[in-house]
Amino acid sequence: MDYKDLMQVVCSRRSIRRFTGRRVDRERIEQLVEAASWAPSNHNRQGWKFIIFEAADEIHALAERSRRCVEAFLAETRRPATAQMDELVHFTGAFEYAPVVILVMHKKSPAVGKAILAQAASELASGEVLSAAAACQNLLLAAHVMGLGACMMTAPLLAGEVWKSLDSLPAGYEPTCLIALGYPDEAPAPPKRKKLEHIVEYRNA
Ligand SMILES: Cc1cc2nc3c(=O)[nH]c(=O)nc-3n(C[C@H](O)[C@H](O)[C@H](O)COP(=O)(O)O)c2cc1C
Repeated sequence: MDYKDLMQVVCSRRSIRRFTGRRVDRERIEQLVEAASWAPSNHNRQGWKFIIFEAADEIHALAERSRRCVEAFLAETRRPATAQMDELVHFTGAFEYAPVVILVMHKKSPAVGKAILAQAASELASGEVLSAAAACQNLLLAAHVMGLGACMMTAPLLAGEVWKSLDSLPAGYEPTCLIALGYPDEAPAPPKRKKLEHIVEYRNA
């Protein structure tokens, strides 16, 4: 494998949001989690968990409850309805028709002391969220090379109480994102990327 091969995989991965009804078998799911588990993590803590939802009824119910939760929040704050809000509600439940939904979680407790974190350049210095994010990217790439489609989603987490009230989640972990997973029923064009000169700065002074 060289840079060109790697870039072929990296650049051809897309976020897939529409899926066929084909079931994703357990062996594939295990392989995806295995790929995720080889991501770098802070102090090699591997402070991540992957909660797999496969039952369509449960996935539909979670999507419906998530939409209602965000709708209720918007109604309570008495904001006039706008297209943007409709979109927010839509994206909150956009995982509804995924055959598999993975709730990715990261460890709540930081690996370093609270005092040092308080003066850190970013609260992300604790590394827990970023480790889980790195695991997600491994999982997305592995799904892609297997012919599966996936989309990382944080909008559903706006429905905080839905995820917090789930039974038997691992203690000491909190949600990082969802990954909707299945066989793709769409082939979206690659969204444009910013040019390198707009995202990189060299400091050689
Ligand atoms: C942290 C994160 C959160 C995201 N949340 C959502 C989401 O809630 N809903 C959604 O449809 N896509 C979501 N996406 C997917 C992005 O929209 C997508 O990655 C971006 O448009 C680029 O498209 P590509 O992944 O096909 O290259 C998210 C991606 C990331 C990395």
